[in-house]
Amino acid sequence: MSQFWKPGSERPRLIDDEEGGVIFYSSSPSTSSGFGYATIEKQRQRLPVYKYRTAILYLVETHATTIIVGETGSGKTTQIPQYLNEAGWAEGGRIIACTQPRRLAVQAVASRVAEEMGVKLGEEVGYTIRFEDLTNPDTTKVKFLTDGVLLREMMDDPLLTKYSVIMVDEAHERSLSTDILLGLLKKIQRRRPELRLIISSATIEAKSMSSFFQTSSKKRKGQTGEDLEPRTDPAILSVEGRGFNVQIHYLEEPVSDYLQAAVSTVLSIHDQEPMGDILVFLTGQDDIDAAVQLLTEEVHNNRKHSGLIILPLYSGLPRAEQDLVFSPTPRGQRKIIISTNIAETSLTLEGIVYVVDSGFSKQRFYNPISNIENLVVAPISQASARQRAGRAGRVRPGKCYRLYTEEYFVKEMSTQGIPEMQRTNLVSCVIQLKALGIDNILGFDWLASPSPEAVIRALEVLYSLRILDDDAKLTSPTGFQVAEISLDPMISKMILSANLLGCSEEIITISAILSIQSIWVSVRGSQKELDEAKLRFAVAEGDHVTYLNVYKGFLESGKSSQWCYKNFINYHAMKKVIEIREQLRRIAQRIGIALKSCEGNTEVLRKAITAGFFANACHLETFSKGGMYKTVRGSQEVYIHPSSVLFRVNPKWVIFHSLVSTDRQYMRNVTAIDPSWLIEAAPHFYEHQRGNPVAY
Ligand code: CDP
Ligand code: MG
Repeated sequence: MSQFWKPGSERPRLIDDEEGGVIFYSSSPSTSSGFGYATIEKQRQRLPVYKYRTAILYLVETHATTIIVGETGSGKTTQIPQYLNEAGWAEGGRIIACTQPRRLAVQAVASRVAEEMGVKLGEEVGYTIRFEDLTNPDTTKVKFLTDGVLLREMMDDPLLTKYSVIMVDEAHERSLSTDILLGLLKKIQRRRPELRLIISSATIEAKSMSSFFQTSSKKRKGQTGEDLEPRTDPAILSVEGRGFNVQIHYLEEPVSDYLQAAVSTVLSIHDQEPMGDILVFLTGQDDIDAAVQLLTEEVHNNRKHSGLIILPLYSGLPRAEQDLVFSPTPRGQRKIIISTNIAETSLTLEGIVYVVDSGFSKQRFYNPISNIENLVVAPISQASARQRAGRAGRVRPGKCYRLYTEEYFVKEMSTQGIPEMQRTNLVSCVIQLKALGIDNILGFDWLASPSPEAVIRALEVLYSLRILDDDAKLTSPTGFQVAEISLDPMISKMILSANLLGCSEEIITISAILSIQSIWVSVRGSQKELDEAKLRFAVAEGDHVTYLNVYKGFLESGKSSQWCYKNFINYHAMKKVIEIREQLRRIAQRIGIALKSCEGNTEVLRKAITAGFFANACHLETFSKGGMYKTVRGSQEVYIHPSSVLFRVNPKWVIFHSLVSTDRQYMRNVTAIDPSWLIEAAPHFYEHQRGNPVAY
């Protein structure tokens, strides 16, 4: 059994451990203090950033770039765009933009700001995320959007002329799109001296950001010597927060199952500690759903645990459930929010007093040698751990329970995370830059340069998809069309091939489903029922065609939620699929794709899938070990994921959509193919050898 202790505490107080969970030691009991909810205007004025209102507006007026650093919850995201609006930056049809790396954050802050301004979301205040545009071209003044969407907008309007101020928020996250955006905005600034940039974040190396935006351009002076243009050296403003102390607790011994440890920790806090909400950091929808279920059962079975409200928080969560997370906790109850690292800095939750930190998050890692990208549960950095702990000190002194040892924190955890740019597949990034006319990717003005191997690999992949030509320029029309669709290029290529094969309707449906995390409801403990439900739709061709059956069934049921419930299908996910599908159809029509159905001809469907995903082809090596496959290119050992309908079926040749790695590399979304299609789809990539395709 594991134990907690607080280093440096004088006399630890033992909190008993009836549940057979983890044991905690705490140095001093904290006192409970009530906190009420004030009117919106009062709340606004209480935020730390309010004191800096005049200073911020002055700096933005006089500097091309302003860097603003301030603790999470100080009011940067929700307040600064409003200050700018109040100061007239949205007059004359101009728009104030505020970018976020995460879609859920975009929606949440936009709806909060609309509420604070007393306007209907989608009018003066709007938001745009991929597949969802809630803005009004005539009335929107403040617009929240993902950094990816803003990049996409540059394809139609390279200088982003409709924006007067662009606030790049959460810059410390260093998402791939943020980094690309910062590089491009620096270029735009030279052409548009009137544009103002705000770069804001919770923790930022303001100095390196500042020197990145430092330009040596000579300033134009007026006749009397006054500046005609804003100063080009960035201003730095630090918003002093007013966080409370957070006591840190570490494990004495490491645990192997952080999920179980998190659940026990939550229950012990609830039993032993004064009122106050609990925020738990896990990694993704699967472990969050599992924890929610375990806790809900516990509450159900044990009256001692009544008064707990257990809520998940991850992107892709339906709006109604998001709203629950932000609504005030009823008196006498305790809210437990189980979240991905979205609650680390992107969203501020009121009322959190306790944080449980698993020490992990889901991160993208890319290996340019094997050309394999994985979404991996990986350790967070010390900087992240500090941010997570900080979330407990918002309303009064709080406590953070780290589900790892102090030694691990000090010795093993990296101090800072690696920018996404340096650990991700650069294929989409390269297309975006090429579409904007930036040819020399390595020579681009990066905040942190990507590795040459990763850039070369991306160029190779794009070349093999015939998206780039021999001169590494976008091909016409394919390359430009792929840039226009702005999905994963392999999916875009699949859609374009479907056009030639006469199955665009079906492939668009499949693409919509692939852009959703999962259409199945995963409930711990009812794996058997879920598998049975899947069998009702499963076909030997694989997951993609199975999805089409689910989609057909959903339509035939009249889009019934009851039908979804009976079949273990996520109703909200299916509704989203319908929405995304409509958007994709519109994009397809815009770029000249004829919408056509293949009327059940699954061979052409699988050929279209192969045309996009030929690089992910594998052949079965051996039935032993549950069916071991090797990728045709690179000979990587991979296995069919248990969630696939082809699990244990093990066709000889398959292609997959993505890989996840846990104990092994698992292929998700798998389709059986005929190897001859590989050479047909990509003669430049595969050649015949003794009857079978091999990679060049
Ligand atoms: O961006 P920063 O972390 O500095 O703070 P913010 O997101 O602007 O949050 C300022 C305040 O607005 C906090 O007190 C949040 O709790 C509140 N807020 C909210 O109540 N609902 C939202 N959807 C977003 C923010
Ligand atoms: Mg913020």
